[in-house]
Amino acid sequence: MKLIETASYEEMSQKAAGVIYEQVKSKPNTVLGLATGGTPLGTYRELIHLHLQKKESFQKFYTVNLDEYVGLADDHPQSYHTYMDEHLFQHLDIPASHTHLPRGLAEDLDGECKRYDQVIKQLGGIDLQLLGIGQNGHIGFNEPGTSFNSRTHVVELTESTRKANARYFSNKDDVPTHAITMGIQSIMESSEILLIASGKKKAEAILRLVEDEITEDFPASVLKRHPNLTLIADYEAMSLLK
Ligand code: F6R
Repeated sequence: MKLIETASYEEMSQKAAGVIYEQVKSKPNTVLGLATGGTPLGTYRELIHLHLQKKESFQKFYTVNLDEYVGLADDHPQSYHTYMDEHLFQHLDIPASHTHLPRGLAEDLDGECKRYDQVIKQLGGIDLQLLGIGQNGHIGFNEPGTSFNSRTHVVELTESTRKANARYFSNKDDVPTHAITMGIQSIMESSEILLIASGKKKAEAILRLVEDEITEDFPASVLKRHPNLTLIADYEAMSLLK
């Protein structure tokens, strides 16, 4: 694992955007795995900034997102489709047909999971996967106890994850109870993984990730088996490391 400590959230975001930008520059048809949540917002802002400043085109680039809530329409204000459009896609010249997320309103959820795995396969796999980390070690919506062999599947969200995500909804009860998430095996098959973390509330998770054993009880721990993992975290998130 390559560890990069930054002085601030902004520097973490700039460094992460730089890694993604270089990847797109060296391979314009890059397949990028994307995350949502609070942590990548700065990375997306920086990426848009680089795109506008340096005029690198994203027309040939493809994206596959980690997850989507079950039961939310693509255009629901809190859906991850909407998040990605608002915070990244509409600001780049990426064709809409190149962006992929699971469909939260699919009638046949098992069929939707299979379709999503097929999408990743047909794109030739993920070149670079951007990840955030949950305080309980979740990656995507792969909660503690998820099999390391998992592919795209439907999950019931834990109370702690629903609570953490309630900040985006007007009422905690509006947070969906289920989500579709890319599985751990699909994440691990990416050629490169970029994990970003910021703030004190992630410090324990980073400590467990770096220093503890690999266990399905802490899903992110599996990332240590990946040959090409970079963790970019600010000093607060790294503060418990020796
Ligand atoms: C969302 C996702 C989640 C988040 C994690 C951290 O697509 O993959 O695993 O990365 O919940 O969320 P934030 O960044 O909001 O702390």
